[in-house]
This record gives sequence, structure tokens and C-alpha cells, in this order.
Amino acid sequence: MIALAILIAVPGFGSNQSSLNPVGPMAQRIEHTLALIFFITGAVYLLTMIAVGISVWRNRLVRDDFPPPLQTPPEQDRKAVTAVAGAMGVSVLLLFIMMVASFITSHAIGKENGRAPFEVDVYGHQWWWEVQYPQPEADKMVVTANEIHIPIGSLVRIHGTSTDVIHSFWAPNIHGKRDLLPGYENDFVIQADQPGRWRGQCAEFCGPQHAHMSFLMIAEPMDKFHSWMEAQAGTPPPPSTPQTQHGQQVFLSHACIMCHTIRGTVAGSRVGPDLTHVGSRDTIASGTLPNDPSHLAKWVLNAQQIKPGVRMPPNPMPQQELNDLVAYLESLR
Ligand code: CUA
Repeated sequence: MIALAILIAVPGFGSNQSSLNPVGPMAQRIEHTLALIFFITGAVYLLTMIAVGISVWRNRLVRDDFPPPLQTPPEQDRKAVTAVAGAMGVSVLLLFIMMVASFITSHAIGKENGRAPFEVDVYGHQWWWEVQYPQPEADKMVVTANEIHIPIGSLVRIHGTSTDVIHSFWAPNIHGKRDLLPGYENDFVIQADQPGRWRGQCAEFCGPQHAHMSFLMIAEPMDKFHSWMEAQAGTPPPPSTPQTQHGQQVFLSHACIMCHTIRGTVAGSRVGPDLTHVGSRDTIASGTLPNDPSHLAKWVLNAQQIKPGVRMPPNPMPQQELNDLVAYLESLR
């Protein structure tokens, strides 16, 4: 309780995945409500414990008046009734205050209904996040996975939905939980004011790999955000070294193309993440593994060993082919 009080009282003291370290106006409001409820309930708890202590001390057994009287005098009875009624009145009042505070908070963070300057479509999948940035030209649409870049200091509207079961989008430093439901679009507006990599996590049990369904909110200054968008909208150049050229052949002649897209090649399936710029991402497997050649190779070879139940099948292949494939994928930046 003391640790939590310190976390709440010291602003900015917290991790990159914590409601107690808000970096945007929505999360800030949520944190204020949390602090109010924490201090009210904390004070009630302390006062109750003090009252219990006083009562135990007063009614401790004293040798002379043992056994204690079974009947309380009427005057004491009246006092007790008044005390209980008073405590009930205070409890109702405090509950009412907390209810009004939560109502004001949810109203405030939900009221941004106008057009936000940036729009992002987020699709929950078992067990990864598909992220699309709609563009006026369809062939320039930015599609990525498990990483959501946003500019700082600007409203961003998220259109959230799911392709299979119910997921919940939760980046606690930036906003509260928002359910992603199949067949329904849940719109909400977020804003981050501090640059950083803020970790998010699916917050609704969605199957055996629910715990391995995380993502990164990458908040960056506007110019950096724009150059990222520009790079992502482009089609990567054809592979330039013999190794990456062979890697591309491996990709196109194996089952990879049944599920993945790489723009500029014939691979155009959308079952799994779009790999057009996979080399530019921090993590693979929805935040489960760092994106480096050795982890990527293990993932391609047998994803079932790392995340049992994912839709990615094992892909046994000779070591040389695997190395070249991984070199090709990592070159897609
Ligand atoms: Cu998706 Cu839990």
C-alpha cells in the first residue's frame, strides 16, 4: 500500500507499462481518478483499523470485571446505533463521490468525437495486432504489425476491431482498456505527449497465447513520425546481394507466401503479419522475441515451440536456406 502511495504521489515515477506513469491527457485523467479512489479507500481502511484497535483496547479483559457484562446499558446502545448510522452515511457519500469522479473521467476521455488529424486501424488477431494507416492512395497504405507509431502532442483516432475473438487494447501509459470486438468498430482517441516506447498488452483473455499478445506504442516527434510513414509506404528495393536474392527465392517457393505479404513480390496474403518492412520492427511474434537473426530463424523454423497454438506452422528447411531467408527478411527495412 505504501509503495502504491509513493507511485501515485510521485509523478513520472513508473515504468513504460503502467497507469501510474501517464504520458498523455487521457491516461492522466485516469491516473487522477485512480489516485482519488486510492486515497479515499486508503483513509477508510486506516480509520477502520484504528477504530478496531481502540475497541479492542477498551474492551480488553481486566481481571476485576471478568466476565464482561452481557448486556450493554441503553445509553451505550444508542451511541452505537448513532455511530453505525453515521458511518453508513459517510460510506454512501464517499461511494457517491467516487462514482461521480469515474463518470466525469469516462465522459472526459470519451468526448473527443471530432476528426483527429491521424487515424489508425487496429485489428486484433489471435495473437498479434495488425496496424493500418489508411492513405488517400491505396497502394501507399502503411501496414505493419505489433508496433503503432504515433506523433506526440497530437490526437490519434484508433478504429479498433477484431477478426476472431474479443481482444482488449491496453497501453496503460496512454489510455484505458478498449475492447476490440469482432464485427464491431470501437473508436477512441489517444494522445501521447512524451516521446518513448510505451508497451501495451491485450487485456482480455483470448486463448492460450493471450499473454504473448503485446505491442509497442512508439510516440515520436512529428518529423520522425512522418519520415517513418514515408519509409513504410514505400516498396522495398529488390534484394541486392546473392544471399538476400536467394533468401527471396526461398520465401517465394515455400509456404510463407500462403500467409504473408511482401509488397513488390507475388506474396500478397493477409493471414499473418505484413512483412514488407519486417526488418524495421523491434520485436517479432507480437512482442515475444527481439527481432534479430537468431530469434527470427528459430521462429521461422518452429514457431509452435515458442508460441504453441499460433497459426504459423513449422517450416523445416536446410540451414543454408534458413540463413538466407532470414538475411532477406532482416533486409526489409
Ligand atoms: Cu488478445 Cu488477449
